[in-house]
Amino acid sequence: MNEGRSCPLAYRYKPSDLCRTPDKVTEDVLYVIGGLYGNPYALDEIERMALAEQQQGHRVRLVFNGDFNWFNASDSLFREINSRVLGHTASLGNVDYELANPNDGAGCGCAYPDFVDQGVVERSNSMMERLQGVAGDHPDIQERLRLLPRYRCLLFGGLKVLVVHGDPESLAGWGLAHESFVAGNELKLAEWFGDSGADVIVSTHTCLPVLWSGTIEGRSRVVVNNGSAGMGNLKHDPRGLITRIGLTSPASEPVSGFEWRGLNVSLMPVAYDLDAWLPRFDRLWPGDSAAAVSYRSRIVAGTSLATDDVVFPFVV
Ligand SMILES: [Fe+2]
Repeated sequence: MNEGRSCPLAYRYKPSDLCRTPDKVTEDVLYVIGGLYGNPYALDEIERMALAEQQQGHRVRLVFNGDFNWFNASDSLFREINSRVLGHTASLGNVDYELANPNDGAGCGCAYPDFVDQGVVERSNSMMERLQGVAGDHPDIQERLRLLPRYRCLLFGGLKVLVVHGDPESLAGWGLAHESFVAGNELKLAEWFGDSGADVIVSTHTCLPVLWSGTIEGRSRVVVNNGSAGMGNLKHDPRGLITRIGLTSPASEPVSGFEWRGLNVSLMPVAYDLDAWLPRFDRLWPGDSAAAVSYRSRIVAGTSLATDDVVFPFVV
């Protein structure tokens, strides 16, 4: 049984195709939001953050790079999350892809590597089955999801910002996961930046944050993985994270960030209303349900990562 481990063929693409026709961004700030996971309170807080920037005269573009669905397993919350997200710039994650195109044998489509426990994989597959049941009653939303691209290339501040969900070879690739940076992925990074011509690659999917900067082919490049916008990412910290790339510095305190080639690149905390979300999550996913077993402790208390663990060598 390979469900949840394999990478469906439809997820594959070529790094050299990803940044051929960049979209020019006219706003002053990009928020790249990955892994909202159906959390409406995180979305409220992200909209509040964008509004605060707008009140200071900065126009903000919200870019959702997939997996905005996951815990929203009720008709009303499924409809609310998708209606709100699809009003912005969006691209697919594997969860959204599997909801739009239920795929026999893909399970959650997560392409989990060997180091992820089989129990996690099986629980994710069962969550996907339940969510596909909900999505099936909303064919208009499935149709809108089906029209979304799998990646985007944005031209921002004169630089090419490649926005993917997994990595530059697959929608559910783990090549930009925190674990891949720990293991050492410089050769792959050199190949991917070289082939795509991107200056920045922004990813999510693998649920742990990364902020990397290095020089490839004589040019300074950056990778940001926001971890999750809708769940905690750091030790004793239930806040979500998003990637912010701006012509200006953020007005509030980032978790980490730096000035780079005329831009500010930061991981911003999303301090959403956990006291409102938790009882709602518990009603949707009670007791020993798959999502409660896999995610509840992380939603409450974050992960084991310290802030310093997020930043990888060669930061400028
Ligand atoms: Fe994903």
